[in-house]
Amino acid sequence: MANGSDLESWIAGMPKAELHVHLEGCLTPDLARTLATRNKLPPPPSLSSLTGSGNTSSYDFHDLTSFLAVYYPNMTVLQTEQDFRDLALSYLTHAATQNIKHAEMFFDPQAHTSRGVPFPTVVRGYRAGIMTAQRTLGISASLIMCFLRDQSAEYAMATLMESLPFKDSIIGVGLDSDERDNPPAKFAAVYQRASREGYLLTCHCDIDQPNTLTHITQALTELQVDRLDHGSNVLAQPDLVDLLKSKNIGLTCCPVSNSVVTADFKGPDIVALLRTGVKVTVNSDDPAYFRAYLNENMLKMATATDLSRAELIQLQRNAFEISWISSWRRSHFLALLDGYEKSTLHDHDQNHVEGIGNGAAGEVLAA
Ligand code: HPA
Ligand code: ZN
Repeated sequence: MANGSDLESWIAGMPKAELHVHLEGCLTPDLARTLATRNKLPPPPSLSSLTGSGNTSSYDFHDLTSFLAVYYPNMTVLQTEQDFRDLALSYLTHAATQNIKHAEMFFDPQAHTSRGVPFPTVVRGYRAGIMTAQRTLGISASLIMCFLRDQSAEYAMATLMESLPFKDSIIGVGLDSDERDNPPAKFAAVYQRASREGYLLTCHCDIDQPNTLTHITQALTELQVDRLDHGSNVLAQPDLVDLLKSKNIGLTCCPVSNSVVTADFKGPDIVALLRTGVKVTVNSDDPAYFRAYLNENMLKMATATDLSRAELIQLQRNAFEISWISSWRRSHFLALLDGYEKSTLHDHDQNHVEGIGNGAAGEVLAA
């Protein structure tokens, strides 16, 4: 059996995609301090109650509400195009060190426009960070614009309209923030319009929320999403699991985030979904806050569940399969991952992931 550091370096070396990371959730205490100083602002109040110091300091919260109460006030340090650029570049620099080849990153424009930062400042800044990372680090990335679900549908629609001149820089839309009493159906008209404008669609269905199965149903049937963020409570309703499989809709799960904002990391649920053939993926959510980037989330799944190495590879195969990239880039990344599997796993470790993926492959070979 492999020892821990071998497993860690094997996960680190795996080519990976990240599909659920909030750029504002990448604001580390260090970067927040730097930006506050640069903008001649007082440091956000959360920094004075930090535990630890320097690179090891971390924010203090214990559930979704206390997390969001720290999360939004911290964003006041983000003021200029350069600040947004630096934030995106800082995440992508770290992601590249984890061998992440492609990232699809959420951002919350309303968290900035509502305090007077113009929409173009936000998008131009993030876009500049992505371009620099792409050019200097070889990592690719795209932007998913989230609406704040605890704000009105009218405000979301106005934000959608504001985004249209930047359509080429934004691949899709999502829904985040406080889910309680803010069901997906509230945004049905906004999603319809977003789809007509050519955006791909996703939606947070946070873990263990009141009415979560109703919310998941609404996201799938009324919003017609292309994928779901979190959403692993779906396991409780088999017809919804079947719907995910028949429509090839993947889930972007975040085990470490789950363990901070709920009582559990939900690893066994993620494993069960993987083994029934749902395209589940593993992601970091808000790495500066949950103190775990993608490798640490993969390691959590590897050490706290009975997933085999072939299944850990399958999690990343799912990520490239449900990522919003061109088919030729998808093929390129999947070939990279296959090569990694072949060169690092023994024959008996490979190809024993039951009920997953290439159901038709055997038939084609047999024909
Ligand atoms: N849930 C809802 N909204 C969020 C989250 C989350 O985990 N992270 C950032 N915004
Ligand atoms: Zn999230």
